[in-house]
Amino acid sequence: MERNAAALIDLAEKHSAHNYHPLPVVIASAQGAWVTDVSGHRYLDCLAGYSALNFGHGHPDILAAAHEQLDRVTLVSRAFHHDQFGPFCAELAELTGKDMVVPMNSGAEAVETAIKVSRKWGYLVKGIPAHEATIIVAEGNFHGRTTTIVSFSDDDTAREDFGPYTPGFVSVDYGDVEAIRAAITPQTAAVLIEPIQGEGGVVIPPEGYLRGVREVTAEHNVLMLADEIQSGLGRTGRTFACDHEDVVPDVYILGKALGGGVIPVSAVAADADILGVLKPGEHGSTFGGNPLACAVGRSVVRLLQTGAFQARAVELGEVLRAELDRLVGHGVVEYRVRGTWAGVDIDPGLATGRQVCEALLARGVLAKDTHGSTIRLAPPLVITADEIIWAIAQLRDCLADLGAR
Ligand SMILES: Cc1ncc(COP(=O)(O)O)c(C=O)c1O
Repeated sequence: MERNAAALIDLAEKHSAHNYHPLPVVIASAQGAWVTDVSGHRYLDCLAGYSALNFGHGHPDILAAAHEQLDRVTLVSRAFHHDQFGPFCAELAELTGKDMVVPMNSGAEAVETAIKVSRKWGYLVKGIPAHEATIIVAEGNFHGRTTTIVSFSDDDTAREDFGPYTPGFVSVDYGDVEAIRAAITPQTAAVLIEPIQGEGGVVIPPEGYLRGVREVTAEHNVLMLADEIQSGLGRTGRTFACDHEDVVPDVYILGKALGGGVIPVSAVAADADILGVLKPGEHGSTFGGNPLACAVGRSVVRLLQTGAFQARAVELGEVLRAELDRLVGHGVVEYRVRGTWAGVDIDPGLATGRQVCEALLARGVLAKDTHGSTIRLAPPLVITADEIIWAIAQLRDCLADLGAR
């Protein structure tokens, strides 16, 4: 590693909390699917900011929208209207097929918003007695890092020392509709699920699960909340991962790619009978729905309206699947692919996910491990088929170096 990079990492080690364990690469610039470090080495980005960069680094349309807005007005707060807000909300509502949206910033804030809205809907519309509403969640979930959200996580690292925990959540097995049915009570306001569990290792539920959740929630007057923060906005080959089962949840929770890789933008989308429960002063954020975020978000919606990225995710996904398939039995135990998104389980006897990601880094590929020996691949959708083939060839060579046959 160049001294420059080492010195920069040292500064971060000394002066930032150690709440992350980044790979030892210091990125200085990026374009499309590639990033360049401070020493001029290039890496193929196969993480894409956990899908925040679905459209690649520096997409010209997104940058043009941001630049144009930067020169006009960037922040007014929600105390006033601005000319990007109404159009952004209307265009995002149209993309989701819902009446209205609540713009926020981070994904966790959007999840918190959905939780608050569900509880209030539960009291005002469903008639659940005050303070008794519950929300059903799934084992293995990842919805963010706030105190309420980690309260219903089963990841010890995320949760352990952060109690006391927020009550009102019931956790059931992921992928099991009957477990949800059994857990529903008159106090249940909502079921919150990821249509595909991203942090869990790109866990794709059994076919019919989303339809089953839709049916059982509708049957019991319970809201279905789909956290599409990582799975949505083109990643899986459809605008929303729920589309794969033709399921329309009551509430979409969106984030990551909505900000075009430029600025944090998240949102909750639902119909007026649900989001209409919010009244002035009950919820908000200084930065949520700011002019820059709305201008960027509008450019993202325009990119998704063409369907080109969704189609590309399908095509690239076939390449990814074909390439990964050859590695099974050669260091890879199993893999899951949906669109251009893969969870790859490395033979734990061979290496941890972290070790594989370090080896990939040395070969010019950025990827991220999750839970033990799983790595996930989520390259920007501007990547080419040849680049995917090259990336998986690097993975094959890394596994061979680690002793795979
Ligand atoms: C499904 C899901 N929900 C919520 C979040 C939290 O988003 P943020 O990190 O922007 O708060 C994430 C982040 O990885 C996620 O994958």
